Amino acid sequence: MAEFSGKRIVLGITGGVAAYKTAELARLLVKADAAVDVVLTEAATQFVGPATFQALTSRPVLTDLWDARAPGGMAHIDLSRGAAAILIAPATADFLAKLAHGQADDLLSTLCLARACPLLVAPAMNRQMWEQSPTRRNVRQLIDDGISLLGPGSGDQACGEVGPGRMLESEELFEELVAFFQPKLLAGKRVLLTAGPTFEALDPVRGLTNSSSGKMGFSLARACHEAGAAVILISGPVALPTPRGVTRINVESAAQMREAVLRELPGQGLFISVAAVADYRPAKAEVGKIKKNGKVMALDLVQNPDILAEVSALPEAPFCIGFAAESQNLAEYAEGKRLAKKLPLVVGNLLQDGLGGDANSVTLFDDQGAHPLPSAPKIDVARAIVAHIASMLIPR
Ligand code: C5P
Repeated sequence: MAEFSGKRIVLGITGGVAAYKTAELARLLVKADAAVDVVLTEAATQFVGPATFQALTSRPVLTDLWDARAPGGMAHIDLSRGAAAILIAPATADFLAKLAHGQADDLLSTLCLARACPLLVAPAMNRQMWEQSPTRRNVRQLIDDGISLLGPGSGDQACGEVGPGRMLESEELFEELVAFFQPKLLAGKRVLLTAGPTFEALDPVRGLTNSSSGKMGFSLARACHEAGAAVILISGPVALPTPRGVTRINVESAAQMREAVLRELPGQGLFISVAAVADYRPAKAEVGKIKKNGKVMALDLVQNPDILAEVSALPEAPFCIGFAAESQNLAEYAEGKRLAKKLPLVVGNLLQDGLGGDANSVTLFDDQGAHPLPSAPKIDVARAIVAHIASMLIPR
């Protein structure tokens, strides 16, 4: 994917052991079409070498304020001109202190002070250093100055301690940087989503479910978060990682999903119902394991409540979005559901186009008609759906 096509990123590396992870981050950025200019502090060169980054980025790596290779000898000014962002990863406690006080005594700190682009920092340090009041003060100052903090994470540290101060993993930093550049179309909004299948128990080990992977719902949760919304994701049983910054609640059955939705609903501005909720559940779940007996077995099923229809009928209903996965007659069925459940927007797709895979081809149905979106990876489809939702929320 070419998330960073046309963007130049200045990747600053300061002297921490997490610097080895930044090599992987540089590779991910280059793979996503970014032009990456790496700047190492002198301390960083004790942990990683310029040759590694030169090879990964195919661009010169700078370490020295007095480097004669920079055009006009003004690397501290020129590097941030036209850059989409500067990301410092890892950012040591010492470097955060320098940034907070506007010190500029080496190339990286000088170009941060002389920057004309956003600055993001990924702190990495020992737990005590992170928790010490000078660092707390500096971090507050950096946030006040409009600098974005990515992490730190919490966990095992190189010094043998466990706690906050770990640099985020390279994939996490990559995801955060992608999110940073998404337009904040849902800033200040609160979004509740459902995703995945439900599992309707027959006995302690068996149940009825479906092959929904949850990928579309998880991609939408991620896209809503990237767009600046506070997101709660209620998920049926799926084996997917929770998107960063999203609050996840796991459920199994449709009844549990309904209960979680109704509990979390107050104060939500949007409800996006992506889950493939089972239409029916066994009339009775056996306490003990069902035994075979050589005879034909009949299952009594009762219909589950329609969570989306119930939510959209509430007097203070949020803006509700439904999904319709159909095997045929997409337009007719999807528009039928939209009208029946009184929804402003339904996202329809043919089962053969989306189920389980990483890409999807959807059509949006609203009062204005049908809007087909180009077939694309689910995260791109999700971002396009978010853009459409945002355009509907703006009073015309
Ligand atoms: O009627 P159908 O199940 O095809 O409608 C699909 C839409 O309704 C989806 O948005 C799905 O999440 C939602 N739904 C629900 N509760 C059900 C069944 C479907 O919220 N019991």
